[in-house]
Amino acid sequence: MPKLLQTISELREWRSAQKSRVVLVPTMGALHEGHLELMREARRIAGSDGCVAVSIFVNPLQFGPQEDFARYPRDLESDAGKCQSVGVDVIFAPSAEEMYPADRSIIVLETRLSKILCGASRPGHFDGVCTVVLKLFNLINPHDAVFGKKDYQQLAIIKRMVRDLNVPVKIIGCETVRESDGLAMSSRNRYLNDEERRQAPAIRQALLKAREHWMSGGRNAEVLQKIFTNHLNQFAPLHRLDYIACVDRATLEPLNEKCEAGLMATAVYFGSTRLIDNLEL
Ligand code: PAJ
Repeated sequence: MPKLLQTISELREWRSAQKSRVVLVPTMGALHEGHLELMREARRIAGSDGCVAVSIFVNPLQFGPQEDFARYPRDLESDAGKCQSVGVDVIFAPSAEEMYPADRSIIVLETRLSKILCGASRPGHFDGVCTVVLKLFNLINPHDAVFGKKDYQQLAIIKRMVRDLNVPVKIIGCETVRESDGLAMSSRNRYLNDEERRQAPAIRQALLKAREHWMSGGRNAEVLQKIFTNHLNQFAPLHRLDYIACVDRATLEPLNEKCEAGLMATAVYFGSTRLIDNLEL
């Protein structure tokens, strides 16, 4: 089994003994194949001499008051077994008290990329993400850290944070892992009822449909978005759209005529379950 560290002092002691490359995969647990793929990538980067560290921490700072912090799935034992199966060396799973002093008063504020897309309906969410990720970087001091492209905005914001704050960690982005019907794997998929689960793959299909138009030269964001919403209205009547947007991959600003490296990103509700997905154009 990977070594389990639950306190900051244990972590510091372990870290000071590491001489080779350390690669970090930050997670909130409830691990699925998407997380495991990031760990396999971390294992490749670390090599046989290096060390793969996984953090498992459901970060209260990134959940809004109406969000699913309390019911977010937690199962450390099962997660540890999954980490072992992909060659993880160390798991850091602190308590909230260990991570956040009761009188803490400093956070990381992101002022631009977090105001749009998912950030528009989740105020403060990405500040919570940046704060915990910076703390994890300071505690674990990894050479590299691996994130999934499923949370594309998160990845773009973390890249921006390490650039703007000169954090010496290389950020690696990994492709989204999907169920066989195309639905992006997520810890939240388990909240879907049978009919919602049946309709949810339409999100991916609608993105692919819009990309066909992009491939044939279509560059008008409104048209691309219309193709997406038409498909979803037809094949996923239970959905409620949060947003669909065509943006630049790095700046997340609205796509313009000249932009070649585009991204379509979306968030869709089924009942109270919010699913996200995206596609590089
Ligand atoms: P969590 O949702 O547990 O995701 C941990 C990492 O797994 C993230 O980098 C996420 O993008 C990646 N991931 C999730 N589903 C994926 C999939 N289907 N394919 C590929 N990668 C996937 O994201 C967070 O936790 C938190 O915000 C965190 C960064 C840990 C900070 O608290």
